[in-house]
Order: sequence, then C-alpha cells, then structure tokens
Amino acid sequence: MLIRGSLTFAGDKSISHRALMLAALTDGECVVRNPARGQDLEATRRCLAACGIESAWEGNSIRITGGILINPTSDLDCGNSGTTARLLLGLLAGQKITARFTGDESLSRRPMDRVIAPLTRMGAKIESAQGRLPLTLHSRQLAGITNQPSVASAQVKSAILLAGLGAAGTTTVIEKLATRDHTEKMLSALGSPIEITESQIIVQKLKGNLTTFEMIVPGDPSTAAFFAVAAAGLPGSELIIRQVSLNPRRLGLYLVLERMGASVVYRQTDQILGEPIGDIKIKSRPLQGVTLTAKDIPGMIDELPALAVLATQAEGVTEIRGARELRVKESDRIAALCNNLRRLGAQVKECDDGLTIAGPTQLKGESVRSFGDHRIAMAMKIAELFSAGTVSIDDSACITISAPEFDDLLNWVLKKST
Ligand code: S3P
Repeated sequence: MLIRGSLTFAGDKSISHRALMLAALTDGECVVRNPARGQDLEATRRCLAACGIESAWEGNSIRITGGILINPTSDLDCGNSGTTARLLLGLLAGQKITARFTGDESLSRRPMDRVIAPLTRMGAKIESAQGRLPLTLHSRQLAGITNQPSVASAQVKSAILLAGLGAAGTTTVIEKLATRDHTEKMLSALGSPIEITESQIIVQKLKGNLTTFEMIVPGDPSTAAFFAVAAAGLPGSELIIRQVSLNPRRLGLYLVLERMGASVVYRQTDQILGEPIGDIKIKSRPLQGVTLTAKDIPGMIDELPALAVLATQAEGVTEIRGARELRVKESDRIAALCNNLRRLGAQVKECDDGLTIAGPTQLKGESVRSFGDHRIAMAMKIAELFSAGTVSIDDSACITISAPEFDDLLNWVLKKST
C-alpha cells in the first residue's frame, strides 16, 4: 500500500472560527471562503447567531454580517468545540454580554478555569460548575491586564486578547512557549490596535468596529497531517498537500517528519490576512525515532495522535514528553493512544506527560475505540494502513466534528494510488 497524488483540504478550523468571531466585530458583510466543514464550526455559527450575528453558507463560503451583539435568549451550545467555548467566552466578556455556555459530555469535562481565571481578573463575573461547563457569563465592563497563561494554549491567549478588544486600557499576554498566532495575525491584518513581539502581544480597546473582509481560509494542516504521516511511512509514497496553511506555528509535525528522515518540501504561493499559504510535498524515506520535549509540543499539539501512529513504523524509540495537555483534549489522548496502539501490537509505554513508542512494528488488525474523539478516530484509520488486517473503530462518526471530508479523501487517494 502507498499514497501518491495531490490533495486539497477544507479550510483550517482555527482560522475559520476566528474569521467568524472577528466578522462579528465588523459593521457589515464579510465572506469566508473555504471554511472548515465540521460540526465544531457549526457550533460557532450557532452561538454567534444566538447573539444576533447571522451567517449563511453560500456554496463553499460563509457570508456573515457583523454588527451589534445581543444577549442570547437561549444557552450557547458549544457542542464538542473547545475553541468555540473558550474564544467566545473571551469575545463576549469584552462585549458585556450575559450568556450561559453549555457543551457536550466531553467538553463539559474539559478545564475552563484556565480562561475563567484571567477573565475574572479583568473584571468578568463568571459562574461555573467548578471551572467547567455549564457556565454563566454576566455583563461587566472589563479592564486590561498583563497575563502569562498558566498553560501554553492558543485558546487561552486568544480568549484574553478578544476580551481585551472590549476592555478599558491595555491587555498584554506573555507567552513562554509560542502557540498558534492566528488571532493576533488576523487582528493585525484587520487594522486593530495590536502590537506583536517575540514573546508578548499587546492589544488596546477597539474604538468602533473592525473592517469588513473577504478571505480564503487555507487548508487545514492538522487534517492534512494524517495523510502526511501516511505518505511519510508507506514506502514509495509521494503526496502533495495543496493550498494549505504554511503558518510556521502550525508546521511542527512537518518539521518532525523531516527530523525522522522523510523528505518535506514547502512552496509558499500566497499570503491571506497575514497567513502564509502554499503546498507541501512529502516523500517517504526510511524513518528513525525522535525525541520531543515541551518546546516541540504547541506547534503540533493536534498532530500528536498522527505522529504516534507513524512512530510505530520508525526504527528505534520515539519519545513524546511535555505533552500533558493531551490528557485534557476531546479525550485523554495519551491513554487513548496507548490503549489502541497496544491492541494493534505496538510497543508503547505510557507516562504522565506523554508516551514512548518503540518500532518498527507491523501492526495487526484489531478492534479499537475512538473515545468519541475525532483525531483518535482519524489516527486509527491511518493505523489501518500500517496493519496486516482490518482495524475496526467502535465509533468513527465523530470524525465529522472536524473533517467530514476525511473518508472521501482517504478512499480517493488510496484508490488513485493502486
Ligand atoms: C486551538 C488551539 C489548540 C488546539 C485546538 C485549537 C485554537 O488548543 O489543540 O484544537 O484554535 O486555538 P490549546 O491552545 O488549548 O492547546
């Protein structure tokens, strides 16, 4: 089995969420082309609509009209989406909105105190179920603060910056480890009062509205990552991922593929609202294990399930450490990966903040669980390509949370490569 050809992916999920939220702060019509297609973005659209910001799909675009945000009369159901819950909490806190946030079972288990604490310091009043959803935000005028988030998290950083747009004075976020920077890049491209340095972002209260915009969202490098690892690990493969985000803070996995021995070539073709976009070509080569530490993690946090699968095919030991955050994603991804990869015959050791995988191992067909987590389900679909039999996943419908197009793309590229 091998993969040859080129693929284009639906728009990046992180950028798509932010495009809709920032459009809400304009005073007119914005068009977001090629947005993400999954349920997570629909959660953001639904919540914004409840706050008076209407949007509609038109072919492969979303047309959205910014304006005055209103207090929703129903709960804001964030579904499975941590980005919706955390970023919207910041944005709405800054706009003096009163709202109740809810989410599905998985999201209701995930920590919200990481955003509640800094927003409370800014003057927000938030009542929660012990730092988790459901929570209620009460209308208050915020004031800017200087904050160093307790965890390396783009969601926390973004929540504070979005709140800062409505807070009196200056809001500063200091980052110890660089996380994805779409919020600050887009705010800067839309002419908002923001200053970005190597380690801190400073935002001032927004006077008036953001400017209306039209943008094309670059392909999602996190969904593409599953195909990239397949191409890197299946001998004879060569894959071009077209029109994908080349934001350096999203390319951690691709850099690690190079460190493992794969051939990876980048070609930037454009720049959209500060976001570089272009093609990535991946060719398989014999792979060696790598060691990842805390500083490697934020640039590939969502790609670690894909990397763990690939590590089973590399010669030697791959160590993923400093990745405790994986325990509080849509599932406990460390436990989920260790359980599943072990069932497939891989040599895996679990530790508190990561996992160690020794390879290479020809995986075997077995039943595995997705734990309702879209990225675990996609990782197991890729694991099947490295296994001698069928990998049956108890629930792979959750893939539609981020990438409803996943199965079609995988089937298409595999068929084309035979
Ligand atoms: C996201 C940031 C990451 C990532 C998530 C999307 C974002 O979370 O895992 O899928 O859009 O800002 P953290 O920043 O909490 O690590």
